[in-house]
Amino acid sequence: MAGLARLEYRGYDSAGIAVVTEDQNSLARAKKAGKLAVLAAELKEHPLAPGTVAIGHTRWATHGAPTDENAHPHLAADGRIAIIHNGIIENHAALRSELKAGGVTFASDTDTETAGHLLAAEIDSGLSLAEAMRAVTRRLEGAFTLLAVDAREPHTVVGARRNSPLVVGLGENENFLGSDVIAFIEHTRTALELGQDEVVVITPDAVIVTDADGDEVQREPYSIDWDTTAAQKGGFPTFMDKEIHDQPAAVADTLRGRMDDNGRLMLDAGIIDEGVLNAIDKIVVIACGTAAYAGMVAKYAIEHWCRIPVEVELAHEFRYRDPVVSVKTLVVAISQSGETMDTIMAVRHAQQQGASVIGIVNVQGSTIAREADAVLYTRAGPEIAVASTKAFLAQITAAFLLGLFLSELRGNKYSDEIAEILEELDAMPAKIQWVLDTSEPIREIARSMAGERTVLFLGRHVGFPVALEGALKLKELAYIHAEGFAAGELKHGPIALIEKDLPVFIVLPSPRGRESLHAKVLSSIEEVKARGARILVLAEEGDDEAPLYADHVFYVPEAPVLLAPLLNVVPLQIFACSLAGAKGYDVDQPRNLAKSVTVE
Ligand code: F6R
Repeated sequence: MAGLARLEYRGYDSAGIAVVTEDQNSLARAKKAGKLAVLAAELKEHPLAPGTVAIGHTRWATHGAPTDENAHPHLAADGRIAIIHNGIIENHAALRSELKAGGVTFASDTDTETAGHLLAAEIDSGLSLAEAMRAVTRRLEGAFTLLAVDAREPHTVVGARRNSPLVVGLGENENFLGSDVIAFIEHTRTALELGQDEVVVITPDAVIVTDADGDEVQREPYSIDWDTTAAQKGGFPTFMDKEIHDQPAAVADTLRGRMDDNGRLMLDAGIIDEGVLNAIDKIVVIACGTAAYAGMVAKYAIEHWCRIPVEVELAHEFRYRDPVVSVKTLVVAISQSGETMDTIMAVRHAQQQGASVIGIVNVQGSTIAREADAVLYTRAGPEIAVASTKAFLAQITAAFLLGLFLSELRGNKYSDEIAEILEELDAMPAKIQWVLDTSEPIREIARSMAGERTVLFLGRHVGFPVALEGALKLKELAYIHAEGFAAGELKHGPIALIEKDLPVFIVLPSPRGRESLHAKVLSSIEEVKARGARILVLAEEGDDEAPLYADHVFYVPEAPVLLAPLLNVVPLQIFACSLAGAKGYDVDQPRNLAKSVTVE
């Protein structure tokens, strides 16, 4: 249960456990819709018999509503076999029809259950659990991590994976399987990863990995070197609060010790030949959600510093539209988890077209970190709250470092100019801290706005992705309809939404930056104000014009225009978090979401 609690970031709409009981001939199972706490209460009331091996699962529904019936583990062979699954079995409908025609009765609407019944059929034909698992995976299409137990093999758990992670934890007289090392980190810090289409059999004292043909594979164990205290709440009421306050450290740590003796950026893993980097004619950033907004901020900076065209594309759109990618394309995949299936598939597609891929990833050893040609880790530490905050700032910071590195390598900026920007970046953690320390006014207004039905966010230039992120945070945490717009686009249609007292947040660029940008956004404010909107402005300290236009102004410290998103997004995170808190919502685990979206 403790392991499952740490895996709840992958999904929390139902949970379940199956245990091979000590009498060694039967399985005991409990499963419930709802968060893990619901299962814990059920187990308290009806404890399962002690067992020899167990499997457990937290679910994020794909096939079938989040009900007790659809929760995993699923049973087969009259309750002798239990199976859990992450991913999507894409040919499940055909398999289900085939099994039904053969007389199998289904107890759920899930794709998973088909795998359980197939496994039972293979075991009935005389195969061991491991052999049966190999046979079943040959029949499955899509992405899966599967774990199964059979009451007749009371010391064995069998696992298999394709396009979805599975890690083995190596203990003493005990072994573990998890979709993430965090599941078993309190028991062991030695782990090994499973390759594509490999099957693993664990018993208390052995781990045997085989490939799709059944030949044994040797996998090198590695040590997990991170600190679990970072995953505790540290005195804050929620992980979200804590992670918002972790942001100065997330940026500082991501910047720390990045340059070698020649002032060149040091990547954390892998290398991309400098000749290749010099020859690239385009950068494509692929990511999803908040990570994609970090990519949008990066585009403004990298294009400005490096004079290389940068496209930013949602990974799921990139993958399926036949994108123009070649050996001269550098793909930058941004992902906190490194396990977002849409982004993984886009990375693989880009590599097949000959592109080099740099991963900007937070989770060490994750799939994208392993598969990218090189990795620049964001050092945000574990992000537990489902909605991303500190990872966003760390992603922007890492992408800036990459931009500066490319700029120097390709001779677009002189070393002293780069040193100047790095100095400005070094000053950002203290400025973020200032925003946190002076955030009471934004908290107060958020609490007063719990009754709002719609909030709009406007920004221009790097303020545009900030507006998109502000709107996403409010949707996710407070379930309020929110939209982010490019301020200049408003007059081309969305202005029709403005009505009296509609709250509109505006990210106002620095008046010290490109003068016209500040003036243009002030004009956008005038346009919405004239139509009765309630104006909330994020402005730079010392901007005396902002109060003349706004009902409420919230200040952030001075910063160069391109770096300002690292400050401006913070009040918007706090706004969404406080407003959701005022509505009594669980900001760490908002409804319908999963921390890591491991399906396409
Ligand atoms: C929003 C959020 C998501 C993620 C997106 C990508 O708060 O967390 O939009 O940013 O699912 O996740 P990663 O970065 O893990 O690839």
